[in-house]
Amino acid sequence: MFRPMRDLAPAVALNFTFDGKALKGRAGDTVAAALLANGIVACRETPVSGAPRAPYCLMGICFDCLVVIDGIGNRQGCLVPLAEGMAVETQHGRRHVEEV
Ligand code: FES
Repeated sequence: MFRPMRDLAPAVALNFTFDGKALKGRAGDTVAAALLANGIVACRETPVSGAPRAPYCLMGICFDCLVVIDGIGNRQGCLVPLAEGMAVETQHGRRHVEEV
């Protein structure tokens, strides 16, 4: 379904993890694009039924790309540039909010 246009520019490889699994992505890609390029389509679960969701619009509209990035939930993977060493996790249900 998704296929990167890898031959347009030389790629700089970045290391990141998804749910603890080591993956590689390309500099300039968003987190959602990097997940899709690695064959990962389900990145969150709905709060009500727990149904898996995948990035859909890739432009910040649908919120189906929500993930936990470096411990912070509700991050839209399609709007966050991938960075070296990022720890990306599936968002299960609602974002966990720290009590103050
Ligand atoms: S994929 Fe739709 S908001 Fe990110």
